[in-house]
Amino acid sequence: MTDQLLSKMLYDDFRHFLENACGIVLGENKHYLVTSRLNRLTHEFSFNNLNDMLNALKSNKDSKLRERVIDAMTTNETSWFRDSYPYEILAEDILPEVAKNKLPRLRIWSAAASTGQESYSIGIVIQEFQGLHPGMLNLPIEILGTDISNTVLTAARKGIYDELSMGRGVSAERRKRFFTQASASQWLINEKIRNMVRFIELNLLQNYSQLGKFDLIFCRNVLIYFSSEIKSAILERMAQILNPGGYLILGGSETPSGYSSLYEMVRFTKGVAYRLKPRKP
Ligand SMILES: C[S@@+](CC[C@H](N)C(=O)[O-])C[C@H]1O[C@@H](n2cnc3c(N)ncnc32)[C@H](O)[C@@H]1O
Repeated sequence: MTDQLLSKMLYDDFRHFLENACGIVLGENKHYLVTSRLNRLTHEFSFNNLNDMLNALKSNKDSKLRERVIDAMTTNETSWFRDSYPYEILAEDILPEVAKNKLPRLRIWSAAASTGQESYSIGIVIQEFQGLHPGMLNLPIEILGTDISNTVLTAARKGIYDELSMGRGVSAERRKRFFTQASASQWLINEKIRNMVRFIELNLLQNYSQLGKFDLIFCRNVLIYFSSEIKSAILERMAQILNPGGYLILGGSETPSGYSSLYEMVRFTKGVAYRLKPRKP
């Protein structure tokens, strides 16, 4: 067996491993991506080369290696108030509806939270709304941020962001109002926002029933990495834990259309969200 053939076999095995472990579908010719993202780990875990490391991964003994490989292969790109419109819909349409319907409590799930910017942006919009409309949104509120990667969740829990991250979406006014300076170039999200948000590790391929019910789910910029079957399964499981009339907000290039018929598109002034259809009796 030539080295090249062995590498191709290992590459195919690795693609299966990755899809089974976290849903991410690698194209047939993404060898360079695997090499560039995993080479560093071969040194860290003292393997002679990438082939040896991928072989070890197959034996599934080292859970730390497995975790670090998944970490390296996931894309954690995020920013504050990403794409603006989801946060405008939240402020202008969804929160007024929650207030009008007098919900007993409000639970929001940020399902691929990465380093926390999405979950904290939601918290900021809620506090701004409460400031603008005193007494209108007086109810217990919980934002749950989940991700498969412990590394990003550790950063999210700290709530400390550098200038580069702050420069990606935080206005001067919001910086002043919702952050305190932690060091010359670091900013800490205020305690009041931090207390609204909880972060836990969760693989979207797993069961969600233990999370309880939600009124709103942000699941943004993660379904794009998954196969059609996995997208469908995730969207159907999310529908099971949305309260009646609850909303799902996806990434700009994502849609439930073709994957689940349990949602209806709602066009708000600033963009679209997907509402859980009423269940048939
Ligand atoms: C591109 S980021 C999106 C972050 C944020 N939602 C946004 O739109 O800015 C995708 C996140 O999904 C997480 N992820 C990938 N596969 C996952 C899975 N199977 N379960 C849970 N999270 C996953 C990654 O760790 C990463 O932090």
